[in-house]
Amino acid sequence: MAGAFRVVDVKTSPIDGQKTGTSGLRKKVAEFKKPNYLANWVQSLFSSIDGLKGSSIALGGDGRYWNKDAVRIICRIAAANGVAKVLVGQNGILCTPALSAIVRRRELLGGIILTASHNPGGPNADFGIKYNVSNGGPAPESVTDKILTNTKTISTYGMACVEGAEAGTEADPFASVDLSVVGTTEFKSIDGAAFTIDVVDSAADYVELLQSMFDFEALKALFARSDFSFLFDAMSGVTGPYAKRIFVELLGGPADCVMRGEPLEDFGGAHPDPNLTYAADLVASCDPKKSSSAPAMGAASDGDGDRNMILGRGFFVTPSDSLAVIAAKAKVAIPFFKDGLTGVARSMPTASAVDHVATKMGISCFETPTGWKFFGNLLDAGNAQICGEESFGTGAFHVREKDGIFAVLCWLAVLAHENASTKEGELISIESIVSDHWKVYGRNFFSRYDYEEVDSEAGAQLMATVTKVQEDMAAAADSSGSMTLGDFPVKVTTADNFSYTDPIDGSVAKGQGLRFVFADHSRLVFRLSGTGSSGATIRLYAEQYETDEAKQGEDAQVALKPLIDLALKISNLTEITGRSSPTVIT
Ligand code: G6P
Ligand code: ZN
Repeated sequence: MAGAFRVVDVKTSPIDGQKTGTSGLRKKVAEFKKPNYLANWVQSLFSSIDGLKGSSIALGGDGRYWNKDAVRIICRIAAANGVAKVLVGQNGILCTPALSAIVRRRELLGGIILTASHNPGGPNADFGIKYNVSNGGPAPESVTDKILTNTKTISTYGMACVEGAEAGTEADPFASVDLSVVGTTEFKSIDGAAFTIDVVDSAADYVELLQSMFDFEALKALFARSDFSFLFDAMSGVTGPYAKRIFVELLGGPADCVMRGEPLEDFGGAHPDPNLTYAADLVASCDPKKSSSAPAMGAASDGDGDRNMILGRGFFVTPSDSLAVIAAKAKVAIPFFKDGLTGVARSMPTASAVDHVATKMGISCFETPTGWKFFGNLLDAGNAQICGEESFGTGAFHVREKDGIFAVLCWLAVLAHENASTKEGELISIESIVSDHWKVYGRNFFSRYDYEEVDSEAGAQLMATVTKVQEDMAAAADSSGSMTLGDFPVKVTTADNFSYTDPIDGSVAKGQGLRFVFADHSRLVFRLSGTGSSGATIRLYAEQYETDEAKQGEDAQVALKPLIDLALKISNLTEITGRSSPTVIT
């Protein structure tokens, strides 16, 4: 038992701009470090949750700059608000899916994740915080709305302080806890309330969960083949230690099959986002034209371990295709799904590849707004078991977050299954698995153009321009409701701002993206990102469906050019934003 602490009510006043975005509150570190900034939000959170007194919560982050300081501050505010126990990941680290696993397995009230996901880290970059509820998933809007309301009226926050240190609130009463050592430390307030900090192994619960879902022996056999090799890029983010444990220690991969495996506070100055632009070194290593030792499979995960990118040898699997292939093979290739699926779900901008799988399998397919939180109710209710987003997110009902390493294991399982009886030297590749999939279900060409850090007003103007285009189209629609867009030859069947009614709780999310659906199932979507930390990020999504096998091998940018040209023209994007090309193309 360590020393006693007292609770002080610290005076504060509201701070503007603390609205939770697509996935938590994300701002520059300098903003978070301003007096009361973090404390205001955390107190507003605690004031929004029922059942906080006497509860246990999990706490951990992706290890980015300021992670440990924030952990210390949050523990003090938690103690002051009557939380009985905080389970902190060792060194303050928990990858996002691991936090979700801990909350579920240990039946906690919720968990706090310190991350700005794939945004850069370091003193001049981003920090972030988000709250997950007892199902292990991101707080629904009913909770985040309450937090926002509280941030606008807050006048004090609670802070646990050292007993007798009358002079101020600076001294941390829990400073004696060594976050690098697993173990429990108990404290008591001067009023007799107990508070415990439990430093837990960051990987144990999560790795055990994954081991229970996959046939690790079959995966080990794949790793043992002479014609199989694997390279994982942890992007100096949180997944390095998890990846070493799973791919090296448990599956027998060589030590160098994990690149950028040491977590760094600034991710080595890089952008820890697993896509073709930011994981360019991995992409080059997997390209047989550039590397004589290109592996059979490459993969990457982001700063906090929830995103994934899957590569074959010289081949990129789009997240939308990845979701579709995993859904199609789940029952036969992955023990966790042996009972089959009743439904799948994807976010609206995600290409509809999985829809074709669902139709063939006769199961439900849900279309939700962008943001993993919208999958929570579907997973809880058993309406869907596998979900995915074009933004490199894939997940299932084992946790309530998308899960990067889970997705990688799914692909290893698919490869192991497809190659169960192939001879060494005749490995069926990722590319052939995907192209065979297209032959059966058709190919959904897909690409996303991002225009990052555009002036906020320009972002709003672009959306207004496209909205006006939709209004004009609707006004000119023929009697069957069919519309035309510019001089594009294919008719438009839907031109709207996507709205979603949750089938479980009836909640409605409006204004989720301007979409144009064409009669041949092609689509164009315009959205403003909800995860940027400054200015506006415009996202333009293009999709085209192709059933002609002879055309399925086309380069996506070539196949989509007419649609993208159309999008740029009708939105007046170049003129409004001053950008002649996107920041990132995925
Ligand atoms: C995070 C969320 C995802 C979302 C992605 C992009 O990763 O967890 O659910 O798809 O951000 O969101 P944005 O609003 O930036 O398009
Ligand atoms: Zn992430």
